[in-house]
Amino acid sequence: MDIEIFSKIDNYISSLLAPEDKALSDTIRSLDTEGLTQHSVSANQGKFLQVMMIACNARRVLELGTLGGYSTIWLARALPENGKIITIEVDEHHAKVARKNIENAHLSPKIELKIGKALDILPVLIADKEEPFDMIFIDADKPPYVEYFNYVLELARPGTLIICDNVIREGKVLDENSTDEKVRGVQRLNEMLSQNKKVTATILQTVGVKEFDGMVIAVVNRI
Ligand code: SAH
Ligand code: DHB
Ligand code: MG
Repeated sequence: MDIEIFSKIDNYISSLLAPEDKALSDTIRSLDTEGLTQHSVSANQGKFLQVMMIACNARRVLELGTLGGYSTIWLARALPENGKIITIEVDEHHAKVARKNIENAHLSPKIELKIGKALDILPVLIADKEEPFDMIFIDADKPPYVEYFNYVLELARPGTLIICDNVIREGKVLDENSTDEKVRGVQRLNEMLSQNKKVTATILQTVGVKEFDGMVIAVVNRI
């Protein structure tokens, strides 16, 4: 089968169910004009995150890796009136671009953008006894995904949904001898999840307008 079909179908689905408005398309454009990489989730993946949020009644969401705020905008738009997102970004320029995009989308009151390394900020959130999050989206740098996952478990409650982007990496996870630190990072996460009794997890392969990849979908067990 022609793999072009995956992009065509992705566009078919997004034109029906995940059309971008100006704030979202301007956000994607801002990545090019401001020199950021095109690593945002796709429109359909943004819509998928919204569906997951609504399914789990998410009022409080944590995101690791903001980039230009594209996924953050999708997430914030699925929040209820009193909802809130904390999103963490290490790069000051990315954060500046994201702040502008979030303002353009009129979502600033719902989004707290924290600038710093996720591995520094997560322990602070835990020490501050931050109220548990209902949904958590891990999409920062890949090598410490296991550490991120273990930290966010301490910011979760039974029933919290944890989604991790880019865990298949065009199938490179099959290479047991990979020296690519991004691949090794997500391999470690996927293997850790196979042994983890605290969550029930699966991985969805993702195809479409982005590279062939996958997302972990995990829910914190209620026992
Ligand atoms: N979630 C975004 C894409 C994120 S791309 C979207 O879908 O729109 C990954 C982001 O993680 C980049 O902006 C990168 O600067 C950031 N990042 C990399 N290392 C990080 C770290 N240690 N802590 C926090 N953010 C980090
Ligand atoms: C990369 C990071 C991402 O978050 C993504 O969605 C795609 C690629 C990367 O660092 O290669
Ligand atoms: Mg990603």
